[in-house]
Amino acid sequence: MGEENHTEKTNGEIVPESDVKYYTLEEIKQHNMSKDTWLIIHDKVYDITSFLEEHPGGEEVLLEQAGADATESFEDVGHSTDAREMLQQYFVGELHMDDRKKESPKEIFITTSNESSSWTTWLIPALAAAVVGLMYRYYMLENKSS
Ligand code: HEM
Repeated sequence: MGEENHTEKTNGEIVPESDVKYYTLEEIKQHNMSKDTWLIIHDKVYDITSFLEEHPGGEEVLLEQAGADATESFEDVGHSTDAREMLQQYFVGELHMDDRKKESPKEIFITTSNESSSWTTWLIPALAAAVVGLMYRYYMLENKSS
């Protein structure tokens, strides 16, 4: 009765989602030493302790990012597809949803803020037209008098 074990084999299918572990930034931060090194790359968490010595770019650069998000530095180097494939073997889980950066909403705010400037878009040409009109009138009057 009380033994409801997740979504275990309801119809013989394996549910892969239940295998993925989610770690918070706080938890990942604990693994910031050379004996125990975790990195976040593209919201995925890797235990690279055994890889430190093998890294062609040296262990120092990895330790600098230990327990934190290394996505930017990883991409800045322009790692090969081989390097990206190597990542898989160190995968331990994913970054918790609450700790992920959401960048797209910011862009939406920027575009909506343009709305406020809509009245200036027609005001400036209208003023320019009025000035040109006045100058034209002035010019015609001058020509008539001479
Ligand atoms: C666990 C994650 C990482 C893996 C599996 C990895 C793997 C590799 C591999 C296989 C190479 C050889 C070149 C290539 O195939 O692209 C390489 C080079 C390099 N990596 Fe990483 N890397 C990782 C993380 C990082 C990070 C976070 C940094 C920077 C902070 C970094 C900095 C470098 C540098 C500077 C080189 C160039 C070394 C050279 O050409 O002398 N790597 N890495």
